[in-house]
Amino acid sequence: MREENETRADIRALIRGSDATERVMERVAFGSVLLVCLVSGASANPHSVCKSCDPQPANCKSYQCITNCSVSKVCPSPDDVCAAVWWRENGVVTVETMCHDPIQPLYGVTLDDFSSSDCVLTVRYVNGSNLRLCACTGHECNERMLLNKPDNDTKLVILHTSETKGGFRLPQLCMFCDIESTACNATGVCESSCNITSICENPDEVCVSAWKRNEGNAIIETVCHNPAFPFHGQYLTDYNNTVCLMKQVKDMEDFYICSCNQEECNDRLFFTDDYKKNLPPVLLVSLLPGLIAVVVLLSAFYCFYAVRQQSLTAPKTKGIDSETCAIIMSDDDRSDSSSANANSLNHNTELLPIQLDAIVGKGRFAEVYRAKLKQGATDESFQMVAVKIFPYEEYASWKTEWEIFSDTELRHENVLQFLTAEDRKAERRYWLITAYHERGNLQEFLTQHVIGWDELCRLGRSLARGVAHLHADRTPCGRTKAPIVHRDLKSANVLVKADLSCCLCDFGLSLRLDNSMTPEELANSGQVGTARYMAPEVLESRMDLENIESFKQADVYSMALVLWEITSRCSAIGDVREYEPPFGKLKDHLCVESMKDDVIRDRLRPEIPASWSNHTGVQLLSSSIEECWDHDPEARLTAQCIVERFSEISSAVISPVSSDNKSTQDSGNDEK
Ligand code: ADE
Repeated sequence: MREENETRADIRALIRGSDATERVMERVAFGSVLLVCLVSGASANPHSVCKSCDPQPANCKSYQCITNCSVSKVCPSPDDVCAAVWWRENGVVTVETMCHDPIQPLYGVTLDDFSSSDCVLTVRYVNGSNLRLCACTGHECNERMLLNKPDNDTKLVILHTSETKGGFRLPQLCMFCDIESTACNATGVCESSCNITSICENPDEVCVSAWKRNEGNAIIETVCHNPAFPFHGQYLTDYNNTVCLMKQVKDMEDFYICSCNQEECNDRLFFTDDYKKNLPPVLLVSLLPGLIAVVVLLSAFYCFYAVRQQSLTAPKTKGIDSETCAIIMSDDDRSDSSSANANSLNHNTELLPIQLDAIVGKGRFAEVYRAKLKQGATDESFQMVAVKIFPYEEYASWKTEWEIFSDTELRHENVLQFLTAEDRKAERRYWLITAYHERGNLQEFLTQHVIGWDELCRLGRSLARGVAHLHADRTPCGRTKAPIVHRDLKSANVLVKADLSCCLCDFGLSLRLDNSMTPEELANSGQVGTARYMAPEVLESRMDLENIESFKQADVYSMALVLWEITSRCSAIGDVREYEPPFGKLKDHLCVESMKDDVIRDRLRPEIPASWSNHTGVQLLSSSIEECWDHDPEARLTAQCIVERFSEISSAVISPVSSDNKSTQDSGNDEK
């Protein structure tokens, strides 16, 4: 039984959420159900069967959450009831399910209401956190949790959202990113750029946003908040609004707050008070019809533009409906492959059912294969994954990359999604299993495709977002994270996803810049990477190894070369040349010494042709690229700054509807 439990835990850790695993777990669970049934068959008091899973994201819709738990367990004691613990961490609703002896406290709370067949969550503050717990009696009654106790006279049936309105007060759905930096300068209408929609914990809470400037840096805070309590010392008065109208906080020039009570209404922030105040009422009335017409026209235009921009550049969680918002994730990508425990090492006894298909890449230390992860007994049901295979001699490279991937805070839509690592002892190979991206790497993609302005923005911005996330010491949700430097950024180490955004891969040379690095370790981490993409200070081995910023600055230099490669294939500037990597033909092997001559002695950089100033956006982008490959590392922009530049540039340039995407093959649709 212990072995069986370990097996189950291992499998769970490997590919949580994958159908294949669910089926395996179901079988294991079914076996254990049978076993306990046989053992306990003689007992008079029947043992409950309950959902029993470690914490995992749950599906919440209106007033109820359904666990994704596929493991059913016959409880060990006839006194056990089914229980669930619900909490929200940075917007993700997580549920743990279990058998529970109601005499015992659960998370320090004794649950006295367990005789009902409904698992009705009650809120408890445990160690400073807001937990919801429930217990119930009945077959797998903890599969569904009710967020609120139904009114006495309300029949408990599964209702659609609209039908629930009379019976329950629904918690609001709000943008919830806590604090994020923003390019918004408190004029006109700003988007929060938060991509996390969260179910508020309490039906009394409304959506709130704050804009603040501190020492030149502007931030936007998006949260749920109960207006019965002050927010930043202010009582909210506008919380019944359907839109978020920013108001300046009294006597504070650089501080605005708004609140509203409508799904995701704190995403779009209106700083429009001034102009309304300044219009005299008579003028307002006489101008009203004209104003309405203008507003309607502008809104139609804005909506059209915003929808189009969103489909091209914005993260996918925006505008999600209440059904899908349930599993709220900071990283949309979690759904595009099975979600795994990034820390997991799949031990030899539990190798995943993977069939290697074809080699898709060859690196310094390993080869990458496209592979099928079987989802069921038949060959038809599988999920494509990528397997990076290291020979046994390259243990150190495998371990480095695995350790980098193991940081769950690395997860981001612009970083290759890691599934698991395997020590394939029998074959004397080490594996890293990740999401597979059919479009291949950016270098191959640019060789085969000419892109339009919109695609340039999408590829470039997502690349910068990936690097900014790597370098950041906080996640978008505000959790602390070790900054990571890639140290081998190049177009061959960037993958193109199906939606034409990028993700970074190949972390074999990466470094986690956490406090555990000693000055000696830092000092020993000198010149690595690919000569063609090395920053001048790396080529010269003159990096300030004690300053973690200098590692990031070297990454930014390499990123600038990749941005140049992307731009060089954009048809917005007119005729497009064949793809060439920075500093000449691909086949030419560029060694450190020859790169030193070009990059340091001659201060050479890739050419920015005159035609690039034919297009305002490309011209603005070229200036940013030049700032990123500055000889002086300190003068370079940060990756986050490039993300913001992209937002500014793409909103300054509205390209024609059908993008100028005359391609050798259409970049948007064609597969290689
Ligand atoms: N080449 C290297 N890694 C890859 C991946 N994950 N998907 C597709 N091609 C790749």
